[in-house]
Amino acid sequence: MRYLIKNGFVVTSKETTQMDLLIEEEKIKRIAPTIEAEESMEVIDAKGNYIFPGFIDAHTHFDLEVAGTVTADDFSSGTKAAIAGGNTCIIDFATQNKGETLEEASEHWHKKADGKSSCDYGFHMAVTDWNQQTKDDLKAMFEEGITSFKLYMTYDTKVSDGEIFEILTELKKYGGIVGVHCENGAIIDELVKKQKENGNFSPSAHPLTRPAEVEAEAVNRLLYIAKLVDIPIVVVHLSSKLGFKEAEQAIEQGQTVFLETCPQYLLMDDSKYQLDGFESAKYVCSPPLRKKEDADCLWKALKENKLHTISTDHCSFNFTQKEMGKEDFTKIPNGMPGVQHRAELLYTYGVLEEKITVSQMCKYLAENPARLYGLYPKKGCIKEGSDADLVIWNGNASETVTKENQLYHMDYSPLEGVEIKGKPDKVFLRGQMVVDHGCVIKENCGLYVKRSTMENEIL
Ligand code: URP
Ligand code: ZN
Ligand code: ZN
Ligand code: ZN
Repeated sequence: MRYLIKNGFVVTSKETTQMDLLIEEEKIKRIAPTIEAEESMEVIDAKGNYIFPGFIDAHTHFDLEVAGTVTADDFSSGTKAAIAGGNTCIIDFATQNKGETLEEASEHWHKKADGKSSCDYGFHMAVTDWNQQTKDDLKAMFEEGITSFKLYMTYDTKVSDGEIFEILTELKKYGGIVGVHCENGAIIDELVKKQKENGNFSPSAHPLTRPAEVEAEAVNRLLYIAKLVDIPIVVVHLSSKLGFKEAEQAIEQGQTVFLETCPQYLLMDDSKYQLDGFESAKYVCSPPLRKKEDADCLWKALKENKLHTISTDHCSFNFTQKEMGKEDFTKIPNGMPGVQHRAELLYTYGVLEEKITVSQMCKYLAENPARLYGLYPKKGCIKEGSDADLVIWNGNASETVTKENQLYHMDYSPLEGVEIKGKPDKVFLRGQMVVDHGCVIKENCGLYVKRSTMENEIL
């Protein structure tokens, strides 16, 4: 099928220009101010609409086992929600279980995802068991197109500072990039003890055990380790002003540091932990929601191009699963959903409120994740020869988020009642129309993408 998309405003990280696009096979074949229609082409009039490159959510956890349970969304429901939200590619965190090799973890994740995904997908590998075998397996990861890794500084998946140093040293040889969950696990354990001694077992204790200092200290420590190794580093889900200040200082001193934040840290605050009953459990994620001044700082940093990507950290649980922590907040499985509404939220509360431009939206949601994680220029941009992953954006659409109109396998929405404007009207995945009039019309067309290492400039 050849599609000719006419009269849309093509968005890049630099500008927005009215252009016609010809899609042939899986690729963008031609881009020009006017392309004449031929009989064999299906013509789509995108007049008045933005056309974005397919969005990339570089931080999802689908079908992840945590705390004796498994996330509500697997690859089937998660990627269907993703594509409805304009994401033509996600990068999920394959996670090494203790005692498992990286090869086994990668196979395990392929079993979860292959044949069940409605958008393209790649894997980061979360290294949780560092030993000789893990080290030997790294080469195979790169051959399989897993070129980015995740390390935790907290949870029982954490690695020690010495291990972080060794892992970064090893990955540097391959040109790998590492994203790190920065929170000081040992201090969190102490703060948890204190809350429990004081008799606070409710979700309101959660943010008190993970204050911004705990993130900032870990960011600072990580940055020095990465500086010693002399390797670029990614701080994932950055949530606080204090943490940002640590990173900003290192960047000003010439260190290569990439910063990811998430919509929840821009749009929600810690007042959610004061809700009645057990409602607050819905917002238990790590790092926790912060204060308004933290969100203001992150928005300002986005405006000034001082952050690099916005991902969702989609990690969904049903309320019934959250209730596992009814008597003890540390047993609440951590995480929130997000993959479906990321672009709509950034458009409504970022672009329309003039906190970021539409080109910055394109950069944070598509181009930079592609550049950082070895997908560019195959994905993340609208260029001749790139994958025809496209979002025709209807800026006039409006909707109220409810648990009924989300595609997650979840029994609540943390965004219940939130108004959003703008919505993907049509989404093309490698030249196939998979969303039309905002509805997913084709499922399970997603393929695994082998990624290369970062070789492009990050904007
Ligand atoms: O609470 C969260 N963010 N859960 C997902 C796992 C992680 O830390 O990224
Ligand atoms: Zn994390
Ligand atoms: Zn995460
Ligand atoms: Zn329509």
